[in-house]
Amino acid sequence: IRVGIIFGGKSAEHEVSLQSAKNVLDAMNKEKYEAVLIGIDKSGRWQVNEESQVLLHADNPKLIQLNKSNQGVALIPGERSEQLLNLTSHKSLGQIDVAFPILHGPFGEDGTVQGLLKLANIPFVGAGVLGSAAGMDKDVMKRLLRDAGIPIAKYVAVDYRTVKDPEASFEKVEEKLGLPLFVKPANLGSSVGVSKASTKEEFDKAVAYALEYDSKVIVEEFIKGQEIECAVLGNSDPVASLPGEILPKRDFYSYEAKYIDEDGAGLEIPAKLPSDIVTQVQQMAIRTFKAICCEGMGRVDCFLKDNGELIVNEINTIPGFTRISMYPKLWEISGISYTELIDRLIELALE
Ligand code: DAL
Ligand code: MG
Repeated sequence: IRVGIIFGGKSAEHEVSLQSAKNVLDAMNKEKYEAVLIGIDKSGRWQVNEESQVLLHADNPKLIQLNKSNQGVALIPGERSEQLLNLTSHKSLGQIDVAFPILHGPFGEDGTVQGLLKLANIPFVGAGVLGSAAGMDKDVMKRLLRDAGIPIAKYVAVDYRTVKDPEASFEKVEEKLGLPLFVKPANLGSSVGVSKASTKEEFDKAVAYALEYDSKVIVEEFIKGQEIECAVLGNSDPVASLPGEILPKRDFYSYEAKYIDEDGAGLEIPAKLPSDIVTQVQQMAIRTFKAICCEGMGRVDCFLKDNGELIVNEINTIPGFTRISMYPKLWEISGISYTELIDRLIELALE
């Protein structure tokens, strides 16, 4: 079976994707699968053959620096690409039987690449167009979760057109959500563009910063509690792993804490939780997966508040597969090895 590993991508999570792809590649059963590397560089150019090898190893694994070259990319109309249009013919992607997009963030995790693969009639791992798009936009995601009766944190969405609206002022937002506030680009991951704000000055700066990455930002209330993550696997009848816990050692679980600072955060795998809470997390993770129409895989990130209430923070439809990422580790302790996990994901894609 020829598996097209699609990695890199235009988003600010490009470097994270390189790390994820390397691990997926390492874990794949080489007797069963032939990996075809398909890289997308930061400018959005697709590369196969030797070029993709160079791209995959273009970073220093010890130091994944933030890719800032794409700041504001969401506000710049994309250029038309003849190359991309040619990709819908199987030839230019090589003869692959299934694609494994291991892209994080916009232009990869958001339904765009999924739409391309669907048009090209290539089966692929993970959520389809709808689940990917719904899972990427934190505002739309939260609305779907709220509609499904899943508890979420209080939040406000602000887009660049309404940023000067009095309703989006620090005073109004503080009145609704309290302090401190978390400000995030609506469509991104790995905590890129995320800041914590406690004053008007910090808030204005945080909104301007998040708007550099996306045309829409969300402002969330601060949640005091434990950060619990749960992995989900399956299509119509998904199953959930044992949960894990993030133990951030910095102010919050930032990009630096995740990927740059070796001691940025600890992982408790599995999380030390009473069995009734474990069941509750697993059920909530599966409900979340279904609510956003996810398929294949998804990692659901929750908060267990100090008062015992469990809320969902978000779902990641292409969760990280880096050396510090929870998704494969959670399956490992739940009885599915890394290699088996890749098998299961490919089987689900071909179902
Ligand atoms: N967005 C990163 C890769 C994650 O959720 O793991
Ligand atoms: Mg995310």
